[in-house]
Amino acid sequence: EAHRPLAGRRAIVTSGPTHEPIDPVRYIANRSSGKQGHAIAAALATLGADVTLVSGPTRLPDPPGCTVVAIETAREMLAACAAALPADIAVCAAAVADWRVDGASDRKLKKDGGRPPSLALTENPDILATLSRPGEGRPALVVGFAAETGDVLAYATAKRARKGCDWIVANDVSPGTGTFGGSDNTVHLIRADGVESWPTMAKDAVAARLAEAVAEHFAGK
Ligand code: C5P
Repeated sequence: EAHRPLAGRRAIVTSGPTHEPIDPVRYIANRSSGKQGHAIAAALATLGADVTLVSGPTRLPDPPGCTVVAIETAREMLAACAAALPADIAVCAAAVADWRVDGASDRKLKKDGGRPPSLALTENPDILATLSRPGEGRPALVVGFAAETGDVLAYATAKRARKGCDWIVANDVSPGTGTFGGSDNTVHLIRADGVESWPTMAKDAVAARLAEAVAEHFAGK
């Protein structure tokens, strides 16, 4: 008998980086591999959830059993998440670009002997904060990530309050930890009632344990 405690539950998972265009051939991006977010989507699906994975560009295969929506920009990610509602669970593991280029050019910028262009940046929408906003249609459980360097617990706890999400998965991404692009992760699960620090384990194992915690939450344990 398969263990499918999340059967009948809908989940939205964001993963990967976003790409923010400068012009038709250039973009601003970041080093997110999408490994942790994709693993969480797969783990929730394994427990029976109906998962929509909204992902920026990655080099990863689509996780089995998930509906995958490929997007590039933060604004597209927000629209795809909104379109995937209603959901019981939202896990925002994407590394969303904080800024996009204000008024990206529809033509390739030219190096025509003049001065290099300056890029004016404008703030992107915060998908986690938007999904966490109280009101009808808010997923019952919203989980965010906090990648910090130093003072991980203090910053992550403050982030949980600021974003309005239910849980924060906090990890230390200081140079030398190998978290970015690596296969292992060391995380702390921050909930209203306290912090659980997990041993270093493979991102797949972090995903499986997080999915079990989600299942226990809905089982009322
Ligand atoms: O603010 P910061 O980027 O540190 O917060 C990280 C958390 O917020 C992650 O869960 C990330 O997926 C989410 N986030 C988001 N939209 C943004 C910025 C961050 O959903 N524009």
